Amino acid sequence: MSVSDDKRDALIAAAREASQNAYAPYSDYQVGAALLFDDGAVVTGANVENASYGLALCAETNAVSKAMTDGRRGGLIAVAVVGPDDKGDGAPITPCGRCRQVLHELAALGGTDPAIFCVGADEVRRVTLSQLLPHAFGPDSLV
Ligand code: THU
Repeated sequence: MSVSDDKRDALIAAAREASQNAYAPYSDYQVGAALLFDDGAVVTGANVENASYGLALCAETNAVSKAMTDGRRGGLIAVAVVGPDDKGDGAPITPCGRCRQVLHELAALGGTDPAIFCVGADEVRRVTLSQLLPHAFGPDSLV
């Protein structure tokens, strides 16, 4: 399912707003994620860190967790991820490996290959989840 420019921009704005609720006192790297579903719903998340550093939860993972605990199983058509504008080289942030796998679980349940809008200070990069995670292991692998 294609996503209009307006919907893409609204999704990016939702991810950027979500990043304001990030709890990232250790890295000072605030991330927001927004998931768009085929019924028009948008579910957001932000990263949540911990004094035990390795327990940090990423924005995308928290968004998927929110959506799934709301009962969503599939229907994922697009994702926007926004990091801080003043960190890195301006290149778009891309979901970490764990988040790619977590996103794949939700997407695979509905048989979609969502667009991922990776937002940087200088550009927005559109990729698909299957480009980020080719040959993925997923729910079908266990049947
Ligand atoms: N982070 C995310 O929230 N999403 C990603 O895809 C990459 C990294 C968070 C984890 C940690 O809180 C901070 O960014 C720095 O790594």
